[in-house]
Amino acid sequence: MSKQTVEIFDTTLRDGEQVPGCKLDAVSKLQIAERLDQLGVDIIEAGFPISSPGDFKAVVSISEIVKNARVCGLTRAVKKDIDVAAEALQKAKRPRIHTGIGTSDSHILYKFNSTREKVLERAFEAVKHAKSYVEDVEFYAEDAGRTENEFLARVCEAVIEAGATVLNIPDTTGYCLPEQYGAKIKYLKEYVKGIEKATLSCHCHNDLGLATANSIAGVINGARQIECTINGVGERAGNTSLEEVVMVLRQHSHLGLDTNINATLLNDTSQMVSESMGMPVQPNKAIVGANAFAHSSGIHQDGVIKKRETYEIIDPADVGVDQSAIILTARSGRAALAYRAKNLGFELNKKQLDKVYLEFLKVADAQKEVNDKDIPLIIEASNL
Ligand code: KIV
Ligand code: ZN
Repeated sequence: MSKQTVEIFDTTLRDGEQVPGCKLDAVSKLQIAERLDQLGVDIIEAGFPISSPGDFKAVVSISEIVKNARVCGLTRAVKKDIDVAAEALQKAKRPRIHTGIGTSDSHILYKFNSTREKVLERAFEAVKHAKSYVEDVEFYAEDAGRTENEFLARVCEAVIEAGATVLNIPDTTGYCLPEQYGAKIKYLKEYVKGIEKATLSCHCHNDLGLATANSIAGVINGARQIECTINGVGERAGNTSLEEVVMVLRQHSHLGLDTNINATLLNDTSQMVSESMGMPVQPNKAIVGANAFAHSSGIHQDGVIKKRETYEIIDPADVGVDQSAIILTARSGRAALAYRAKNLGFELNKKQLDKVYLEFLKVADAQKEVNDKDIPLIIEASNL
């Protein structure tokens, strides 16, 4: 079955970089942009050009070096923002301006002290103005997750008429349940006039830990772009994690959807971003955490040693991890000990293994993990 492509819009360098303490210097931004391009992301959101001279320069330099991906700059629905973004993107082979405005009642009332009609007008004008600079204009309806669907549909119709090519439906506060977010996308697909002229995009935050699930619900219901970051970094609890959505679509091929990502670069890219940002990846993080392919309980180890797929749905090599790890702890069994000892050149028969295992348990109870350097000492102490 031929698959439909879900475009990957990476916002590590914009939404991701909004994490307190994770500001990137100019060199790191360029290195990450180059890596994202190699990884195969379709769009790199390089920054918010009007926000600071540093961000402006970063967007200029990234525009100069990126070979394949589209390069995108964020703006508010403000003329000056759009002018500055267009200037920063001048050297991009394929520039995109990402403009937008809050559409939920709470944004309209409290942030803008405005009305729905005025917001509609600003949205339309912003897209029209961006369109005077570039062909590829994406519109975001900030807080779309809490925006009434009927009004959201009106906003979408207005910006499509103004020339928007992509409609970003952000769950800015990470509020939606997957079925609600999926239903929102479905509603827009069904009721927005002219929707066939634009791509719907998912931009989900992770405040309830649902960003990945919501993005997947979005593409199941017709969205064809996902906005995400490496390691899921981003404001508060973060954004949708790039590596997760890519691997969900790859694991569930029956959905008939795939991305252009070269997954074998995922682990390395994760480490690169983590080091540049000084932001460690939690060990139990899906796909790229240090424990994502590590097995430490006896039952699981026995299963994995017999057949890897018993406890692993992804081949670690597919995401750039050398191999699954068999970690020795007091919960490990004989199979794991024999496996690790064999890797070090010690072939133990059943009787020997029983003796070594007793010695192993003493050490394992005394320390968190038994390492390669401990194994010869344990064997020696076992009086075989
Ligand atoms: O979360 C959000 O709504 C955003 C927009 C600026 C796209 O990041
Ligand atoms: Zn966001």
